[in-house]
Amino acid sequence: MIGTPRVHFRLTDSTNERARTLAAAGVPHGTLVTADEQQAGRGRQGRAWTAPPRSAVLMSVVLRDLSEMLPLAAAVAVCEALPVAARIKWPNDVWIDGRKVAGILVEGRPQEGWAVLGIGLNVATEEFPAELRPTATSLHLEGVALTTDEARERLLAALAGWLPRPANEVLAAWRPRDALLGRPVRWSNGSKEGIAAGVDDSGALIVQTVDGRVTLDAGEVHLER
Ligand code: BTN
Repeated sequence: MIGTPRVHFRLTDSTNERARTLAAAGVPHGTLVTADEQQAGRGRQGRAWTAPPRSAVLMSVVLRDLSEMLPLAAAVAVCEALPVAARIKWPNDVWIDGRKVAGILVEGRPQEGWAVLGIGLNVATEEFPAELRPTATSLHLEGVALTTDEARERLLAALAGWLPRPANEVLAAWRPRDALLGRPVRWSNGSKEGIAAGVDDSGALIVQTVDGRVTLDAGEVHLER
């Protein structure tokens, strides 16, 4: 059961950090950690993740049935949980109209048989700091009137449906939501460029460069706007 038991913090450092500690202590598959506010929320690539108190779904799920498709399946689930059209920037940023509404951070110890799936979904945020305004959005700003509780329940239901699905079904749902497909991208600190050409069957990003096709299985890719 995804979402049970649930541990809630009014304030914590990072729900991913709390979930990792619980996972190492042996809590069951599906255990959910939520918070109203994080003091040290973590994003991908060592970045911070911040959200005003009670404005976002901040949640981490302990998983013990692991799949290589987890990062992609989670992104599909987030899209399906939203009552508006959403797309995915590889591997798993969720965008509405070109702005990021949700981020996903998977951290794990596969050798110990667990992973933590962290999701931050901007729900009620009314205004972002100036530097984020061009690239970030919230459900509220997109005209979606969900509470954080409602949004969390929709996320949990969608995760329960998508996480067990086989890779071919996850990829078939991910590919039509690919926000990068056919668009110019840069990676390796902007030193390399090409045209995004979808994902292969392992979920790696395919990029067509002047020198041929390359696949990227980790790291950060930037869309040239
Ligand atoms: C990203 O897009 O960089 C991933 C952001 C993930 C943020 C969420 S918020 C809940 C969970 N706890 C964390 O510390 N991070 C994730």
